[in-house]
Amino acid sequence: MNFVVVGAQWGDEGKGKLIDILSENVDITVRYQGGNNAGHTVIVGDKEYIFHLIPSAILRPSKTCVIGNGVVIDPKALLEEINELKKRGLPMTNRQLKISCNAHVVMPYHRVMDQLRETKRENKIGTTGRGIGPCYSDKIGRMGIRMIDLLNPGVLKAKLQDNLNEKNDIFKKVYSHQTYDFKKIYTEYLAYGRKLKSYICDTSLYLNDAVDRKKKILFEGAQGTFLDVDFGTYPFVTSSNSTIGGVCSGTGVPPTKIGQVIAAVKAYTTRVGEGPFPTEFDEKFNDIIRAKGHEFGSTTGRPRRCGWFDAVLVRYAAIINGASELAIMKLDVLDGLETLKIAVAYKYKGKIYKDFPHDLDVLSKCEIVYETMKGWKESTREARKYSQLPLNARRYVERLEKLVGVRVKYISVGSKRDEIVVR
Ligand code: GDP
Ligand code: IMO
Ligand code: MG
Repeated sequence: MNFVVVGAQWGDEGKGKLIDILSENVDITVRYQGGNNAGHTVIVGDKEYIFHLIPSAILRPSKTCVIGNGVVIDPKALLEEINELKKRGLPMTNRQLKISCNAHVVMPYHRVMDQLRETKRENKIGTTGRGIGPCYSDKIGRMGIRMIDLLNPGVLKAKLQDNLNEKNDIFKKVYSHQTYDFKKIYTEYLAYGRKLKSYICDTSLYLNDAVDRKKKILFEGAQGTFLDVDFGTYPFVTSSNSTIGGVCSGTGVPPTKIGQVIAAVKAYTTRVGEGPFPTEFDEKFNDIIRAKGHEFGSTTGRPRRCGWFDAVLVRYAAIINGASELAIMKLDVLDGLETLKIAVAYKYKGKIYKDFPHDLDVLSKCEIVYETMKGWKESTREARKYSQLPLNARRYVERLEKLVGVRVKYISVGSKRDEIVVR
């Protein structure tokens, strides 16, 4: 059975750790969307790795990792990541890593445009500044440059010239910003193509053939459901489909071959960047949980905003992703709290909302209907079996399960590989 790990909140749920564990029992792990806005942390022994573009299963050298066509690739960042892994002893052969020829390329003007657009906006998104939005805009606008284009000097030349014709005017006239030199980018990106050539192939055919040969595939989501461009807290979202639909369009593997969906959540909620966050803690408690959970962005280092578990959000995520199992991460961060709160509904202008409301006013101005539960004093970090968790921790897990309507299979109690309970 193949399966997907999808974030069911605003990203950073602990997908990297979960994928590292689950990848032991699969043959291939594939990223299907996003770019190096993602930061997936894996801790093995005393070593910490943060992956931005490369799937989190890469630390198992006998397995294959794929970057699917739905991902946007900054080749400079990707080469840095590959070189870093080589330095740390991984072979990084083209058996270990495959890159879709159809994945779009993040260009230098995308990164700068991302930042310039943010400066002009009244309602800032707080993007990672990695050029993700502008790159996806060009893909949909049919102006994009794909990985395969980096291998064809004639095609790259024509596309880059067209792009610079338009973009240099925008940079100059709209943003009073310096323009881009064709020759410099052309030479730089052809060189990236040469360096990455051995990894680039038709990954959709590779993956479908693997499915036919009964190989097991794990699909790795980046970001989370509420950063999805269609279903998230728009416009405070990223520019791709981080939810389940992104798997098919981002890999070329049809829905009939996907299988199980594991929705990953934190035992509480976090968000980086701007946008509504109904259950956000007050400043004081935010500081406490941020320190306990080391809640700082893996990509930008920004402090993450923290809040109570929001069952209104996660229930919606479970529905639209068709979640078959829930993974609750970072339960240990809640150790020692007197009481815990869970959002079960929102209230706005006298109306009760039990389902996720898409209206920004409701999301940002609503009152929260909370359920309160007793906390636990004991540490959960040593638990390896469900029965070893404190009674009130089990009660909390079972309440979340009931509210979300999906069975909890994994409970993570620490950042290390073995700090997990499989139920
Ligand atoms: P991702 O983007 O979903 O892969 O998540 P990140 O890696 O950005 O953020 C999750 C953070 O929590 C990382 O620093 C992980 O090492 C850490 N982490 C993952 N699972 C647990 C857990 O169960 N307990 C604790 N304390 N930390 C965890
Ligand atoms: P992982 O995969 C958390 C957020 C940014 C910003 C918004 C748009 O590690 O869970 P973008 O640069 O994508 O245009 O920024 O999305 N964001 C993330 N937040 N985890 C991520 O990835 C994120 N990727 C983007 O902070 O609010
Ligand atoms: Mg992250």
